[in-house]
Amino acid sequence: MSSPRDARSPAVSSETDALALPAGYTRTAVALHWLIALLITCGFSLGAYMVDLHISPRKVRFYAYHKWIGITVLALVLIRSVWRLTHKPPPEEPMPRWQLRAAHLTHYLLYALLIATPLCGWLDTSAAGIPVVYLKLWQLPDLVHKNRDLAKVLAEIHGFLAWTLLWVVLLHTAAAFKHHFIDHDSTLRRMLAWRRS
Ligand code: HEM
Repeated sequence: MSSPRDARSPAVSSETDALALPAGYTRTAVALHWLIALLITCGFSLGAYMVDLHISPRKVRFYAYHKWIGITVLALVLIRSVWRLTHKPPPEEPMPRWQLRAAHLTHYLLYALLIATPLCGWLDTSAAGIPVVYLKLWQLPDLVHKNRDLAKVLAEIHGFLAWTLLWVVLLHTAAAFKHHFIDHDSTLRRMLAWRRS
């Protein structure tokens, strides 16, 4: 004898299955993605602009804003990483295997750079002996002892990581546009609309 469950029509069955699948990212994942994108755009532009300014109160202020933005990025990326590990992303769009691999590699690289770049900036400013006072409210701990030679090396590495991050972000953006405007799939759309969670 068939149970009511077995008696589901194929239409009802497929509708239920479709509802069970995540259609997009959670609203937290989408909000974090765009907030981090906005902050790294501002943080990068400010960083590239401020370094060549002559020493002045304005330069000192810009350095402080740059550090606050970078620390915020670091905190948000750590939250985003935990969210990503605990919430299943929507199923992949059908695409050639090499594209899927390239996308995964780019995503891992983005996470690594988004953690390493601000961490290196924080190490740099600690080695320079200038503590970070986040939002003028909280003094963050120094990550290393003052060491001017080390600060110079860390500043170089921080700059290198930031510029590498720029290129990886540009590649990631170009791939999203290719999916949207050439392949006409929902890769970009699903990072714009969110499902409930
Ligand atoms: C994702 C986050 C961050 C990005 C994208 C970023 C980007 C940049 C860029 C593009 C520069 C200019 C590099 C150059 O052209 O020489 C720079 C410089 C700098 N950043 Fe960051 N930064 C970030 C986070 C941080 C954090 C968290 C701190 C400190 C708490 C920091 C401290 C500095 C300092 C001190 C400099 C000047 C280095 C020097 O003396 O040459 N940055 N950053």
